[in-house]
Amino acid sequence: MINRHVLALVAIASTGFGCSQDPEPVVDDALDKDHYSFANTDQFVTDHLHLDLAVDFDARELHGSATLTMRRVDAEADEIILDTRDLTIENVRFVLASGEPLDAAHRLGDVDDFLGTPLVIDVPAELQEGPELTVHIDYRTSPGSTALGWLPAELTAGGEHPFLFSQSQSIHARSWVPLQDTPSIRITYSARIQTPPELLAVMSANNDPNAERTGVYEFDMPQPIPAYLLAIAVGDLYFAEIGEDTGVYAEPELLDASAFEFADTQAMFETAEAMFGPYRWGRYDLLILPPSFPYGGMENPRLSFLTPSLLAGDRSLVSVVAHELAHSWSGNLVTNRTWRDGWLNEGWTSYLEYRLMQVIYDEDRADEENLISYRELLLNFETVDAQYQALAPDLRHVDPEGDSGSIAYHKGNLFLQYLENEFGRDVFDQFITDYFNAFAFQGITTEEFVDFLDERLLSVHHGIVSRAQVENWMYQPGLPEDALLPSSANLDAAAKLAAMWSKGEIDVSDLPVSDWSPQATIHFINSLDADLSTDKLSEIDAALGLSETRNAEIGRTWFIQVAERRHLPAYDGLARHLQRFGRTRLVRPVYVALAQNGEDAAFAKQLFDEARGDYHPLTNASIERAFGRMSETGE
Ligand code: BES
Ligand code: ZN
Repeated sequence: MINRHVLALVAIASTGFGCSQDPEPVVDDALDKDHYSFANTDQFVTDHLHLDLAVDFDARELHGSATLTMRRVDAEADEIILDTRDLTIENVRFVLASGEPLDAAHRLGDVDDFLGTPLVIDVPAELQEGPELTVHIDYRTSPGSTALGWLPAELTAGGEHPFLFSQSQSIHARSWVPLQDTPSIRITYSARIQTPPELLAVMSANNDPNAERTGVYEFDMPQPIPAYLLAIAVGDLYFAEIGEDTGVYAEPELLDASAFEFADTQAMFETAEAMFGPYRWGRYDLLILPPSFPYGGMENPRLSFLTPSLLAGDRSLVSVVAHELAHSWSGNLVTNRTWRDGWLNEGWTSYLEYRLMQVIYDEDRADEENLISYRELLLNFETVDAQYQALAPDLRHVDPEGDSGSIAYHKGNLFLQYLENEFGRDVFDQFITDYFNAFAFQGITTEEFVDFLDERLLSVHHGIVSRAQVENWMYQPGLPEDALLPSSANLDAAAKLAAMWSKGEIDVSDLPVSDWSPQATIHFINSLDADLSTDKLSEIDAALGLSETRNAEIGRTWFIQVAERRHLPAYDGLARHLQRFGRTRLVRPVYVALAQNGEDAAFAKQLFDEARGDYHPLTNASIERAFGRMSETGE
């Protein structure tokens, strides 16, 4: 599979880059090139995209047009290559400066399972002159578009209206828009979206909280964004204000609960601006999706998409909002140039999330979440190959969604905590705002980041951290010896109590559960002795209400334990958990634990078969990959 992808790129390079005099096709195998896009961005770049799309719930397709305003950056170039996946291209034409159309010869290349299909458009001689080109593409999506979740009414909170949402990251924008699907370039966009008149459309753009339901919605996104941040959702959506700059869109059944759960968003917004520099996107709103949304959150600009599993009723899971908001700086403003540099998005954001949680809540809560993340990182180190434990691994020939765990997040976070600790908070805070200002609205590589860090911090405060130490974080597996390791007094106390209770030294009634944060409960569950009896497990389940919890992270932690320990009395609860949630993080590890407990591989697959119809295709693909890996290794 790996070599096939290299070959696919060779084929495109040799046909698409006009190197016919050169018998040896030149393959740009550089690490800083985006290996997940067919687009020839060294020849043409897109500046603006206009979408005119109708949303057809019956056919499960979007149809209409995409108009790309492009610039030629290589005077010799005579072919535009765009990314597509499962799109039907109906017509391609150029729009001349006079407004006249000019039909364009075009063809689809070979399908690559993983990258999609290149759309090659000839640029005719009469257009060779000026640098600007307008390309108009009539097209339709397919019901199997990897970006689009088409939900029947039954899978929504209200049960009466269908719902559509997109998820473009990492390389799925191409399955709903033909474009240059690479984070290395940025576009502004505008859109006109037609929907059934009773539904509302929202996008990663200038949503109007007071929009009338007309079935025709217009959007504008004046700040340039990478393609993976293009986003749309359509459903029975209503708006509730949170604060001056912030609000939430949700189905009416979830609107009050959402406004309550995320009431701290305005404070987060103001704190983030004070700490990281100006917020440059206008409003910041949240959108609550149906349960099959595959992620906890997605940082679509101006409108973060969120899983409804955050609605725990006690605001205990809102670090996800802090995270998605922080992406307005790390990721959306300063963007990873390629997916190999993903830690610049996710590691930086996890660090900013940690900083926000300290201020909005308190240091104890931030420390608890930090320690829980660190524990997950250690688990990742046990399962992820050493070469993918680097912050900037060589991803040239692998799937960017290859489930390499959360190393970019938690190791990236610890790297930045380490720098903060070495240089002092004041110095490092200045560096944070300098960094965002220096690279605002640009994509950068890890190496550009390291150069900037060296110039602004390492060399200025010489003798504190060396470039070699930084490169160790970037390119070596595991954690450097001098990493600052998270600790939490609260969680240590919970772990001690878990050990004592496991050994029978204290009673359930001695546990100070009413003082515990959800994070303490999670750590307690993870710290139970390995060989507890069924009776003891049932006792703790009843005492802490684990199988019935409203907190999806507690449920996740508990049901992983239930599956690993084959605690049969809680299997009904486990099956309910798998039916109730579709966020990959909440369900996949439970299936994996079941499939690996030595007895339940078939049962895990049976439960998956029962639930998968309600999951997103990306979640299903991720679970299938996990099952596939287990059967390969015979586990
Ligand atoms: N951008 C990510 C989601 C993502 C990553 C989608 C890679 C596709 C490919 C988002 O910001 C994220 O990190 N979500 C996390 C939540 C977070 C608090 C760790 C998630 O969904 O679990
Ligand atoms: Zn993120």
